[in-house]
Amino acid sequence: MKLFQQISRIEKLDSAEDFVREYEIGKGDFILASRTIYDKYFKPLGVEACVKYKDSYGQGEPTDSMMDALAADFRCSGCTRITAIGGGAVIDMAKLLVLDGEASVKDIFQKRAALKKKYPLIAVPTTCGAGSEVSNVSIAEMTGLHSKLGLAADELYPDHAVLIPQLLSELPYAFWATSAIDAFIHAIESFVSPKANLYTELFSKKAMEIIIDGFRRVAVDGPDARGGLMDEFLTASNLAGIAFGNAGTGAVHAMSYPLSGVYHVTHGEANYQFLTAVFSAYQRFRPEGRLKELNVFLAGMLDCGQEEVYTVLKNLLDKIMKRKPLREYGMKKEEIESFAKNVEASQQRLLGQSYVKFSWEQMAEIYSQLY
Ligand SMILES: [Fe+2]
Repeated sequence: MKLFQQISRIEKLDSAEDFVREYEIGKGDFILASRTIYDKYFKPLGVEACVKYKDSYGQGEPTDSMMDALAADFRCSGCTRITAIGGGAVIDMAKLLVLDGEASVKDIFQKRAALKKKYPLIAVPTTCGAGSEVSNVSIAEMTGLHSKLGLAADELYPDHAVLIPQLLSELPYAFWATSAIDAFIHAIESFVSPKANLYTELFSKKAMEIIIDGFRRVAVDGPDARGGLMDEFLTASNLAGIAFGNAGTGAVHAMSYPLSGVYHVTHGEANYQFLTAVFSAYQRFRPEGRLKELNVFLAGMLDCGQEEVYTVLKNLLDKIMKRKPLREYGMKKEEIESFAKNVEASQQRLLGQSYVKFSWEQMAEIYSQLY
């Protein structure tokens, strides 16, 4: 049984300038970037690379058609190395560029094309959630399916993951909150995954510890307190990325996909809606085993009894960001059943990594509780 691997070389640097110098970024480099970050930190450095902005391909999270357009631009550029500077969406889009051949993104995601890595990828995260810089996963919305699919393949590991806390210094509160909650979900879901083991658990636990500690400080001292914690949150997100890259995420992610696919709710915010409801359902259906270990760990961190960890966690997270009933995102009552069935039909990879493999009826119950 495979226990653990981490292929990306991880490095921390002080500034964008250090990055450009150390990696000798210039001609022959293809950069996909978030426009605001690139213009503020990299453009003044006069880099001679071929630069494309993610927003030129579309707003929001990646779709197969956005990724096909990006791949066409990359092929025309003649570049031989790829750098992604941005949040999870930017890095996930760039991951597909490393592949040889001209297969469509839909064929690649639906495993109708052989994967062969051709180009190196450097990933520079600018949010503290996705952990995509160290994972072998790319997530995209398949426009015809109205849901997201994840592709996990070792060819997609970035060769380099470069952490530059400076790039997060102006991350707006909502982006910080949703991405940090997403990182927490990576850590907690990977902790109870059937693929979890001692190696992945170390990463999951440390990530949860740093994030909860940071959330408590922000809950007490207010939103501005996050400014001094970006290094910690970026590191925690990276640790959580390593954990879920090995052990996987589960039902929280699976159940969020129809909501974010149909109503364009950002990934972290959509995930957040399901976190405590899914773990409370785990508690009802299978309270023994790894969940018990998790509850002991969380109770220690949250200074509460094991039976109240999900309530205390919910109260802490509510101080970071308010949740909303699913209907406020536009979801319709009749979609409770169709969303649950859609998850059962298209998210078997994630459901197989869940602590309890929910039936569609059990998921419908969770959707209706949150509706
Ligand atoms: Fe996620």
